[in-house]
Amino acid sequence: MKHFLSAGELSRDAALSLFSLAADLKNGWKSGRRPTPLTGRTFALIFEKPSLRTRVTFEVGVNQLGGRAVYLAGQEIGLGTRESVPDVARNLSRWVDGICARVFSHATIDALATNATVPVINMLSDFEHPCQAVADYFTLWERGVDFAKVRIAWVGDGNNVCHSIVLLGAALGADLRVACPPGYEPDPAVMAAARARGGSVTLTTEPDDAVRGADVVYTDVWTSMGQEAEKATRQEAFARYQVNGPLLNFAKSSALVMHCLPAHRGEEITDDVLDGPRSVALDQAENRLHAQKAIIAALTEGLS
Ligand code: CP
Ligand code: NVA
Repeated sequence: MKHFLSAGELSRDAALSLFSLAADLKNGWKSGRRPTPLTGRTFALIFEKPSLRTRVTFEVGVNQLGGRAVYLAGQEIGLGTRESVPDVARNLSRWVDGICARVFSHATIDALATNATVPVINMLSDFEHPCQAVADYFTLWERGVDFAKVRIAWVGDGNNVCHSIVLLGAALGADLRVACPPGYEPDPAVMAAARARGGSVTLTTEPDDAVRGADVVYTDVWTSMGQEAEKATRQEAFARYQVNGPLLNFAKSSALVMHCLPAHRGEEITDDVLDGPRSVALDQAENRLHAQKAIIAALTEGLS
C-alpha cells in the first residue's frame, strides 16, 4: 500500500493481516510491549470538518508509535483556497512522513495523494471512511466472527461509511443487505465494485427485510457533515429507518449493533439500543486507535 484512500483498495488477505497487526498493537499496548517505529517521524493531520474520535485516535496513535502529529485545520491552511491542494501536498511532503486528511470532497483526497511523495490516509471524505471500516471489521474479527457466514444489515443512508463498509465487507465475504429510502442508496459504482470483489450485496427499501436474520445491524446518522441544509428533508425521508427495539427483533437474538458515532440519539438509533447489551459502538471507537496504528505501520514499513 502506498496510500490508503478507499476500503476498496484492501484485499481480504491485506485486511486480515491488518487485523492481526492491530490485535498485536492493541495487546502490546495494554501489556506494556510498546514498539516505537515512528520515532523521529511526523504526520500532518488536516481536518476540513469536525472530529472527536478520528482526531484523538490519530494523534494518540502516532504518539503511541513514537511519532508526532501536527494538527492543521483546513480553514487555517486554506486548503484549496489560500493554496492549491497539489501545492499543499508538495510542501507537506518536504517536511512530514505522512499526510492524513478529512475532507469535504473525495477529489481533494485524490489530489493530495497524486501530488504527495509521502503516504496519504483518508480520514473521511464525502465518499468514504475507510479507517472506520477497518476498525469495524477488526471489532468483529476480534469477536471471532466468521466473515464467510456473517450477515450484515446496513439501515439508513447509503453514505460514506456505508460505502466503506460495503466495499470491505464484500472483500471479506460477508453477506451485506442495505436498506435505504429511495434516492439515498449507495453509489451504484460502489455496489458494482463490491459485487466485483465477490461479495453478496443486496439493496432494499425495507428495513425489516435487511435486518431479518442479521448477525450485525449497522446504522449511521441521516444527515452527514456538510449536508446540514438537507436535515429536515432527510428526517422525513428516513423516519421509517430508525434502529430501535422492534426493528432489532427481526435480527438474530445474538445480533450486534454497530454505529460509527457520533450518534444523533432518537433519530437513526434509540438510546436503549445504542446503550444496550448488543451495542459494540464503544468497542468500535476504541479500535479506531489500534486499527489506524496498524494502517500507519503498514504504510510506513521500511521507513527507518
Ligand atoms: N467515527 C468518527 O469518525 O468520529 P469523528 O467524526 O468524531 O472523528
Ligand atoms: N456519515 C458521517 C460519519 C461521521 C463519522 C458523516 O460523514 O458526517
